[in-house]
Amino acid sequence: MCGIIGYTGINEAVKKVTKGLEILEYRGYDSVGICACSNGKLEIAKAKGRVSELKRILSGEPRENVLCAIGHTRWATHGAPSYVNAHPHRVGRTCLVHNGIIENYKEIKSRLEGEGVNFVSDTDTEVGCGLINYYYEKTKDPYNAILSASAEMKGSYALAIMLEDEENTIYAIRQGSPLIIAKGKDGFYLASDLTALIPFTKEYYSLNEGELVRLSKNEAIIYQGGEPEWKITDMSFEASKKGGYDHFMLKEMYEQPKAIKGSLTSRIVNGLPDFSSDGLDKSFFEKIKEIHIVACGSAMHAGLVAACLIEKSALVPTSVYIASEYRYNPPITREGTLVIVVSQSGETADSLASLRHAKERGLTTLGIVNAVETTIAREADFRAYTYAGPEIAVATTKGYATQVSLLGLFAICLAYNKGEIDEKNAKALTECLFFEAPAVMENVLIRRAQLKEIAKQIYERDDIFYIGRGIDYAMSQEASLKLKEISYIHSQAYAAGELKHGTISLIEDGTPVIAIATQEALFDKMDSNIKEVRARGAKTILICHEKMQNTEGCADIVFKLPKSSYLGNIFSSLMTVQLIAYETALLRECDIDKPKNLAKSVTVE
Ligand code: F6R
Repeated sequence: MCGIIGYTGINEAVKKVTKGLEILEYRGYDSVGICACSNGKLEIAKAKGRVSELKRILSGEPRENVLCAIGHTRWATHGAPSYVNAHPHRVGRTCLVHNGIIENYKEIKSRLEGEGVNFVSDTDTEVGCGLINYYYEKTKDPYNAILSASAEMKGSYALAIMLEDEENTIYAIRQGSPLIIAKGKDGFYLASDLTALIPFTKEYYSLNEGELVRLSKNEAIIYQGGEPEWKITDMSFEASKKGGYDHFMLKEMYEQPKAIKGSLTSRIVNGLPDFSSDGLDKSFFEKIKEIHIVACGSAMHAGLVAACLIEKSALVPTSVYIASEYRYNPPITREGTLVIVVSQSGETADSLASLRHAKERGLTTLGIVNAVETTIAREADFRAYTYAGPEIAVATTKGYATQVSLLGLFAICLAYNKGEIDEKNAKALTECLFFEAPAVMENVLIRRAQLKEIAKQIYERDDIFYIGRGIDYAMSQEASLKLKEISYIHSQAYAAGELKHGTISLIEDGTPVIAIATQEALFDKMDSNIKEVRARGAKTILICHEKMQNTEGCADIVFKLPKSSYLGNIFSSLMTVQLIAYETALLRECDIDKPKNLAKSVTVE
């Protein structure tokens, strides 16, 4: 949610910062801006819209000699997307970019206005800038000014700050929002996340909460003391490129089989699940009496699938909570409650707040995270990375698939360690997950043309329903979210038996109802539910297990999943609904990788 970047060094600061902004654009893309230090002056350029617009504005002006710049790509919170609200903001001799929210900006603003400070935008950021500048003018000490302002600002922020009095220098501080600094051969960088820095260097350091750093051409100094403990990432720049695909989302869907294997492989030893490399030994599993899975959006949907698997195989009561609810309406817990926080980005504000809340309550926490070294990964008592690689499309695909597969393996491990399944069974399930899940996904990918035909049947509709039971209902929720977020078609997921308790009144002639039916024992029930909506005019599309009989008369369109176990079905149905969403959005000519109003990493509440 908003991306910030900065560079100070020996050359081409504007070029580097705009390149980084292009990579960070998935964090927000309603306006963009840059501040460059040019001949001792701070110069700002900004635009409503995307980085391409900023590049157009910057083109034609020679900027090769600029050695220091900061940039921002915005996802609006305070104030509409506009030129005036775009970052960088400047007050007096201070200029900054910000990711996060300064919650008490109104009271700070009226106090500063009382002191004669003039604000032009609707943003909280400009107020933060005004506050730093206020203290700076009083003390002429940048550290003192930033720390005094920071002590007053409530909320979350990662700030990159330039002062007109200090040529080619960037100050940066984080509180609640992520911030990485990096060391290159050509100078020092900072960014909201590591992917934006990979084209320039692999040596990085994640700032800790409250840490204030000063970057100049030759050094990075942490105010609180100590040298940054530089680490080397193995992330490659290639991984964050489209690689010939039309969209990142498509590329990431194709990457899923490999990503699943990559997430599981190091956690299977002699055919059995083994999380000891994550610090989770037998006694860890034995102590678990109850599980809370806490997450947002698709990550929460991954939790819904996982809860079905955990309860089915390990018989451990498992509840799934939306992170923004968990924190303020905490459920009753007991000894032996494990809180699993699932997050692709590792920075989602509500998930992070829930994690902290659970820790305050003395509960054991486990983070299932994709982006390494992120706050959730660092703060959880235990962490297991999903190793999906960088996910650039705003709508998650491989992030979700790897969350489900890792949680699936966790469920098998828990069941085995609790003695609910024997070794033979545990090995068989592990084998299914490792071999079958990627294979059935490949199978569905080959049949993409069939799913395009389904998309042709639905793309002009205004409303669509997904229905399913049990684990298929959990998948329906992800299917529905994927469809609506990228195609902008209103879509809802319903437990198949629940539709007739009200919502069926919305079914009209031709309303698409997509039913997911992968469980043999529930085929007849699903068949009845499809008939109910069909009788009321729905266009029915059935995604079902190959064993389901007489499907021709059952629905208008039938897509049979490849033969597999119940674990494999999860992944084949997932690939199916993801491709339906993708093909539908394509037909509607939507901006698939950057859907309107969204951002990839939601670092505000
Ligand atoms: C939907 C999507 C979001 C995220 C949610 C949580 O496609 O990507 O719903 O799943 O914002 O994000 P993370 O997993 O980064 O915590």
